[in-house]
Amino acid sequence: MNQEKIQGKEKFRIEKLDLYYGEFQALKKVSMDIRSNEITAFIGPSGCGKSTFLKTLNRMNDLEENVRIEGKVELDSTDIYTQMDAISLRQKVGMVFQQPNPFPKSIYDNVAYGPRLQGVRSRVKLDEIVEESLRKAAIWDEVKDRLKRSALGLSGGQQQRLCIARALAVQPEVLLMDEPTSALDPISTAKIEELADELKKQYTIIMVTHNMQQAARISDRTAFFLLGEVIEYGETGKLFSRPEDKRTEDYITGRFG
Ligand SMILES: Nc1ncnc2c1ncn2[C@@H]1O[C@H](COP(=O)(O)OP(=O)(O)OP(=O)(O)O)[C@@H](O)[C@H]1O
Ligand SMILES: [Mg+2]
Repeated sequence: MNQEKIQGKEKFRIEKLDLYYGEFQALKKVSMDIRSNEITAFIGPSGCGKSTFLKTLNRMNDLEENVRIEGKVELDSTDIYTQMDAISLRQKVGMVFQQPNPFPKSIYDNVAYGPRLQGVRSRVKLDEIVEESLRKAAIWDEVKDRLKRSALGLSGGQQQRLCIARALAVQPEVLLMDEPTSALDPISTAKIEELADELKKQYTIIMVTHNMQQAARISDRTAFFLLGEVIEYGETGKLFSRPEDKRTEDYITGRFG
């Protein structure tokens, strides 16, 4: 458990965020600050709004019809809904999904995809970005001799690290991860956890997980969601050892529901 003093500075500030899918209110007055150079974990039962909330942080909900959002999300004091366009926001706030989703392209082209979209043409520069991103995602040694081969030939755990490399290639500041290890074996899971711990030195990491041990092991702060509300949010060590709310306690001790 990470009991270290919290050092990061405020990256996201979320204020009274409500989100509706049509008539259904999926998020209710969610407020929290998320700090840089930390891992923030979101936990809570299925359907409580974790993915919905994560997606509001890089406006992935904009893609859905019938979604209405009220309240405020600020990234470095800039309102992401009124003062930023979705493209530049998503360049700063990358996302990794539950199921690894590499493009049906070569390993190299997966990582070079974002930089190319951003206009990087130089082969030398692209080679550099691809290598650096794969190294940061701790998969370079496994793929350096087969960069031209299809990404679909990688194992699930390798594909997930490739997707992390792809997200890092556009030099984001924040990495959102929605249950990034739930489809992986324990060894790949451990690798992703080590990687997240390494990446937080440079990035802000926000991770949804159903695995309570994982949240306790790697996160600095944890938010417990229930029915669209944040019930408790605080330092991970404290939330797991001395929760303030009875509902948090019931959930983390498995007595819930
Ligand atoms: N596109 C959508 N349209 C309508 N309702 C939705 C949509 N997406 C999610 N919901 C509803 O919003 C609520 C929150 O869903 P969400 O996916 O955020 O939960 P979650 O906490 O991520 O759950 P899980 O742990 O199962 O992934 C659920 O009741 C879900 O049915
Ligand atoms: Mg989810």
